[in-house]
Amino acid sequence: MNQPRVIVALDFASADAAVNFAGRVTPRMCRLKVGKELFTSAGPQLVQTLTQRGFDVFLDLKFHDIPATVAGACKAAARLGVWMINVHALGGRAMLEAARDAVSACARPPKLIAVTLLTSMAQGDMQDVGLSGDPAGAVLKLARLAQGSGLDGVVCSAQEARLLRAECGHQFCLVTPGIRPAQSGLDDQQRVMTPSAAMDAGSDYLVIGRPVTQAPDPVQALNDINQEIATRIKT
Ligand code: C5P
Repeated sequence: MNQPRVIVALDFASADAAVNFAGRVTPRMCRLKVGKELFTSAGPQLVQTLTQRGFDVFLDLKFHDIPATVAGACKAAARLGVWMINVHALGGRAMLEAARDAVSACARPPKLIAVTLLTSMAQGDMQDVGLSGDPAGAVLKLARLAQGSGLDGVVCSAQEARLLRAECGHQFCLVTPGIRPAQSGLDDQQRVMTPSAAMDAGSDYLVIGRPVTQAPDPVQALNDINQEIATRIKT
């Protein structure tokens, strides 16, 4: 069986809710994402609980600081035994290379990926912080910076996946949130894609939260998504 391509976003406020969800699924069905809210309330202990149960954990803390601080944070994250971590590409080349070096020196290096431009930022927001050009151009530039600094991939919108796949090649890992099965509501996401369309566009991993975690039957919702993308997975 192929490795799971769905990363379920555990956007729960408490460790209990997250552990409860993890108890209903298996590491063959999905990987799990722990973000800032859950990590701030539940801490490293929850991450270790999930990894000890055999789950690949994406620790989504989006580090962005001076190079030495980010390197230390990446090392600490790697020690938790997680599968994937991320940093902001806007931290610049020296920060990205420091993160790369710190992760490479670990016994079991997690995948290191970069956030390019937050998908919540539109052109006006870019101007506010002094970034010129359009969002797609900025995303491509930052993805190239991440790749040139030795990172394994980026988080991006599925709408950008085709361009980045073409520009950055097949080895570069594309992790895409903003995924909605055809019958799901949008919640607060704006530019969404179905799981199969995102895979066709070149995504390697789909980050999916509410369409699974808030579904009346989360296991069924996850199984349906895995079935939808099964024929799209290129090994
Ligand atoms: O519930 P939903 O599927 O919208 O959850 C998407 C997850 O992906 C959330 O954890 C959200 O923080 C994360 N994310 C996102 N857009 C980004 C980066 C991360 O939706 N650009």
